[in-house]
Amino acid sequence: MTTQSERPSIGSPRVHYRRVDSTNERAKRLAASGAGHGTIVTADEQTAGRGRQGRGWVAPAGSALLTSAIMRGLDRRDLLLPLVAAVAVCEACEAVAPVACAIKWPNDVWVKRRKVAGILVEGRPQEGWAVVGIGVNVTTASEELPEDLRETATSLRRAGGGDELAVEPLLHALNAALTARLQDAPDRILAAWRERDALRGQSIAWEGGTGTAAGIDASGALLVDTVEGWVTLEAGEVHLGAAGGGR
Ligand code: BTN
Repeated sequence: MTTQSERPSIGSPRVHYRRVDSTNERAKRLAASGAGHGTIVTADEQTAGRGRQGRGWVAPAGSALLTSAIMRGLDRRDLLLPLVAAVAVCEACEAVAPVACAIKWPNDVWVKRRKVAGILVEGRPQEGWAVVGIGVNVTTASEELPEDLRETATSLRRAGGGDELAVEPLLHALNAALTARLQDAPDRILAAWRERDALRGQSIAWEGGTGTAAGIDASGALLVDTVEGWVTLEAGEVHLGAAGGGR
């Protein structure tokens, strides 16, 4: 049986498209037909990029890192895969740009409280594989962002990352960070994630209520202090800044 320490690096082989529907879709097809751990699918542009909660993911051609990595040999520890990916994205962004990244539960990456990267993990656990899809706005200008996202999203360049920024060095940094973090024990992942927690102590709202975010538990679920007591959110979307707070 494959153990985590035997896993090969992320990033090879690499399938690159100038234009593709969705790197996640292509990576899932490759995984279903047997592609190995570490294989990545990248693209300059997606015509049907997919986001969490059934949303789309839009990025102008060449301005964003669009990559999907195949993971195999999954075990219990890989339940934290979305958190592993978020930590690795932060580390990669900080390796190529003078920015400070935070994570909005579960795995949006923020710079200066705006979203710079999103992560979509999909898989077939019963077949032992998952695909980690990552989109990072690298050089995207604000007028290139979808209008409804201009207040809440940004790019590394726009957030002060500098004019030298490019997609390819970020991809290399990301592959290295993912390779390293996939070897980590869960307690180290949780600690790294908690250091970057953008919501802790903040008033938040979700479909079912409001409260104060109070960190994550060992499974990565969000703990919320509400007027009715503690609530644990295992999935879904939360928003900042709701009135109501905790107890
Ligand atoms: C989100 O925040 O909603 C997740 C966005 C994930 C987008 C990336 S871009 C590369 C990969 N291919 C996709 O179709 N989606 C992910």
